[in-house]
Amino acid sequence: MHFLRQRDGLRVPSSEITPRADYENRREWLKAASALGLAGLGTGLGLEAQAQTAGPGKLAKLPGARSAVPGALAVEKLTRYEDVTSYNNYYEFGTDKSDPARNAHTLKPRPWTVAIEGECAKPGRYGIEDLLKLAPMEERIYRLRCVEGWSMVIPWEGYSLAELLKKAEPNSRAKYVEFTTLADKAQMPGVRSGVLDWPYVEGLRLDEAMHPLTLLAFGLYGEVLPNQNGAPLRLVVPWKYGFKSAKSIVRIRFTEQQPVSSWTKAAQQEYGFFSNVNPKVDHPRWSQATERRIGEEGGFFAKKRATLTFNGYEPQVGQLYAGMDLKKFF
Ligand code: MTE
Repeated sequence: MHFLRQRDGLRVPSSEITPRADYENRREWLKAASALGLAGLGTGLGLEAQAQTAGPGKLAKLPGARSAVPGALAVEKLTRYEDVTSYNNYYEFGTDKSDPARNAHTLKPRPWTVAIEGECAKPGRYGIEDLLKLAPMEERIYRLRCVEGWSMVIPWEGYSLAELLKKAEPNSRAKYVEFTTLADKAQMPGVRSGVLDWPYVEGLRLDEAMHPLTLLAFGLYGEVLPNQNGAPLRLVVPWKYGFKSAKSIVRIRFTEQQPVSSWTKAAQQEYGFFSNVNPKVDHPRWSQATERRIGEEGGFFAKKRATLTFNGYEPQVGQLYAGMDLKKFF
């Protein structure tokens, strides 16, 4: 098995140790295997990934079939469940990385309704139980890159946001999609502070929102989302900085005008609308050239990694930005 090398328990990204062609072949193979339901049989990788993607069993199970969407299975060592669920940004529950895990127990993820509104033929309201059944649950292993300079690799459960959006039949005026998340002082202590202009709002261009990699996530590590990770449903846009991936969504609106996100409102010069991961465009306070993988600090092999353009998803999403000046439209 030359695709994967183990070194002191670290899974080395096969993209770093195999020629590109082998890597691509392997991805094709995985895709084919997953279509045939063979993932996990005899690949080494599959067995390992399956063993690792089980959560600790505290929350309801939410299994997902391995995704066949190109680019949806990053072949890298997963960030430990404990780190994914204890080192969070969720300002509605406090601004310290440890606040959400400590405070988010007051969030009530059931019952939950998401309103679909704006420029579409079929607006509506969907209950969480209906959303869970709307399309087959897939497992996607995505790199998540935070603008603060750290990253994780997380196995999510969900399906392409496009599955939900197309049911609403956006009309010809729909150019953007705006996401609004819960802001309830009774459940969220941070909403009493003025650190952001609540509710948390994010936006995507319609073609970004419809891209198959844009995930509506309901779970991670084979279980429903822990509250601190955005229960009961959130966005995961893997080629953009983490703040675009809005948690605990309550409203999705098709708009003609570009939505103004909470972070852009807070600091226009620092947080652009696109916020595509780009090692060549620095944030005024953080270099974006390298990143620290959570869980690796201090270890012998711990070193900063080079950040990849579009977080490594350039083959899949690069064409969305063809001809655009990425320094201007940061
Ligand atoms: N969504 C809401 N509603 N509130 C937030 O503060 N933080 C964002 C994003 N979504 C945030 C949010 C940021 S800055 C990041 S990096 C990711 O969530 C973190 O997701 P994680 O905690 O699941 O890793």
